[in-house]
Amino acid sequence: MLTASLVLVATLFAAGSVAAKSTKEISPYPLGERSVFSERAIAERLQPVGSVCVEGEDCGTAAAAEEQVASGPRSGEQVHQSACAACHTTGAAGAPKTGDSAAWGSRIAKGNATLVKHAIEGFNAMPPKGMCMDCSDDEIKAAVEYMVEQSQ
Ligand code: HEC
Repeated sequence: MLTASLVLVATLFAAGSVAAKSTKEISPYPLGERSVFSERAIAERLQPVGSVCVEGEDCGTAAAAEEQVASGPRSGEQVHQSACAACHTTGAAGAPKTGDSAAWGSRIAKGNATLVKHAIEGFNAMPPKGMCMDCSDDEIKAAVEYMVEQSQ
């Protein structure tokens, strides 16, 4: 019985060492740092979820500032593509197509101020702000100016 289990253990051992050619395949850590009870593993588990940043240190604010620049006001073209094109390139619901100067002629004649007002407040089947609820008035104005430019 004892011999049988020894043989079994030895076989398992042998099988294990055949399967793993190098200790690196078992764990990337050196011997002594592999166990979940090793200092390395414990230190990793104890890592705080957040970290405190003291005033005066650069705590990744440079990166955050860059992101803010990137999320500044969108250009007229960007707003047009994301919020207006769905109707204004297809002519859905009778929307005048961007670039169609015949459809825009009489509208452009109303003046940009009126067009911007209609785009912000809505006008018949034209929904307020083209349903772009996170668009600022300036962004809508830029989009109208872009449409008018493209449709002269
Ligand atoms: C759901 C479809 C739809 C979306 C989205 C949409 N429009 Fe319109 N838009 C219309 C329709 C329809 C008209 C024509 C309304 C009419 O003349 O009765 C129109 C008309 C306009 C006019 C002309 C208004 C006038 O006084 O003649 C402007 C300017 C305009 N849209 C700007 C925009 C801008 C800018 C966006 C995006 C922010 C936008 N639209 C998104 C449907 C849409």
